[in-house]
Amino acid sequence: MEKLKLIKPNLNYEKQVLEMMQEFYKDESTPYGSSWLKRFLEDYPWRLNYLKKSESEDTITDKRYVPGIQYVLVRELDNTVIWFINTRLKLNEWLLQHWWHVWYSIRPKERKKHYATWQLFAILDIYEDLWVDKVLVTCDKVNVWSARTIQNCGWMLENEIIDPEDWALLQRYWIDTKEWIEKWKIFFSDCGFNIEIE
Ligand SMILES: CC(C)(COP(=O)(O)OP(=O)(O)OC[C@H]1O[C@@H](n2cnc3c(N)ncnc32)[C@H](O)[C@@H]1OP(=O)(O)O)[C@@H](O)C(=O)NCCC(=O)NCCS
Repeated sequence: MEKLKLIKPNLNYEKQVLEMMQEFYKDESTPYGSSWLKRFLEDYPWRLNYLKKSESEDTITDKRYVPGIQYVLVRELDNTVIWFINTRLKLNEWLLQHWWHVWYSIRPKERKKHYATWQLFAILDIYEDLWVDKVLVTCDKVNVWSARTIQNCGWMLENEIIDPEDWALLQRYWIDTKEWIEKWKIFFSDCGFNIEIE
């Protein structure tokens, strides 16, 4: 069984995170869910400190934003970082209408191996612990792979809206964390991954 760890980025993983970021650039792929970690390329320790402060309403730098946690997924076998995922811990009215709780991207070389499917499932554990009953994810309608990943994990389409930033058609999907726990027991037992959340 393949072992994966979901961790907050830290100084020990600086090299791996920067390598992953370079891979996104080379592939001309947007590192969604990386909290604009492109700034990691400039000042990784500074960015880590910024992310730490972003985890709590008391310390968040920009009070217009809600707190959130940045994670990266590490494959234990070769200690490689394979995806970025950003989790907002709550939604405000604007986010509820236009954006999402969860936002993510798998590094280009590691796509189509079902990492996103299982990880999107696993991430709900964090929301369950926070007593968040329903979790929102959105995706551009033309991003059929992301939509497929979301649907495969049991998220339900609520509606489609126009993204106010770039006028793309966004699909809004919800999942109930309690229902997810039941699905988890059935599906996760034979997924081939063992995912730990630190
Ligand atoms: C979307 C994304 C996260 C999918 O990650 P992934 O690990 O490759 O996805 P999975 O391997 O779990 O595959 C999920 C489903 O999509 C399908 N899929 C994924 N990539 C595909 C591709 N390039 N071509 C065809 N099908 C694809 C898989 O076959 C699978 O469907 P199935 O189980 O019915 O066969 C990844 O492509 C990515 O990071 N894209 C760029 C960033 C992005 O779009 N983020 C989402 C923002 S909403």
